[in-house]
Amino acid sequence: MLGQTFQKKIEASSKRNKSKVILALDLEHTDKNILFSKCLEILEKVVSSVCAVKVNRHLILPLDLYDGVKRIITVIHDMGLPTIMDCKINDIGHTNKVIAKHYFDAGFDALIANPFIGWEGGLAPVFELAEKRGKGVILLTYMSHKGAWEGYGQKVLDDSGTERFQYLVFAEKALQWKAAGVIVGATYPEKIREVNSILKGEVSVYSPGVGVQGGKIKEALVAGTNYFIIGRSIIKAEDPYRAVMLFNDIVGSH
Ligand code: XMP
Repeated sequence: MLGQTFQKKIEASSKRNKSKVILALDLEHTDKNILFSKCLEILEKVVSSVCAVKVNRHLILPLDLYDGVKRIITVIHDMGLPTIMDCKINDIGHTNKVIAKHYFDAGFDALIANPFIGWEGGLAPVFELAEKRGKGVILLTYMSHKGAWEGYGQKVLDDSGTERFQYLVFAEKALQWKAAGVIVGATYPEKIREVNSILKGEVSVYSPGVGVQGGKIKEALVAGTNYFIIGRSIIKAEDPYRAVMLFNDIVGSH
């Protein structure tokens, strides 16, 4: 199955570290050397208590993919965790394939893509490349921010001409395209539940939006979230390890 290698890796690290928390390594600093050391510092503190690390433009832009970011990916892999690139791929197929190839060549195990662009001439080349390389593709399905309803919450006509919510059509596409996961904000537990009833456990649900954005772990878990993507509540905490463990305890006590 497409993305199985990535899925197996995250399942294994989640079990080993007893955690469903994916660290969003969204650190900021104007000095690149300080930014790089801050990344290593936070990784050292929390790496044994999270199940994966997600990287965003916060690091790609200042640290360069094949330099600083690749070195950070190697450190994370050496610590036994898979890595996710949050590039929200969103262009024509040929360009998407070039982008995906660079991220996979740098070592990322999975990437996030936007299903709005469709399959043919859009995401098909990304899924094909991911399958060949044993990587995962995670699809945005309902984002965590307030304005998500303007796009993901629109009513659209599905393939059969029936009026449906966009995010439910995307959940079906995730199954059809054999995605490794879908993103549904922890801020919308009712949407997690609806999406999960379509996915029936065959595709994992990844939920950002816990903590700073107001999402509650317990509600999302009950609704069907498999993994939580958490950034600022961990990296800005006085004690990041304690912050992760508090999240792990909430999940563990569920
Ligand atoms: P915070 O600091 O809010 O960071 O815990 C969350 C991280 O996840 C990203 N994010 C999202 N990524 N779909 C995504 O693919 C979403 O709905 C979403 N909401 C937040 C955010 O960029 C940050 O890296």
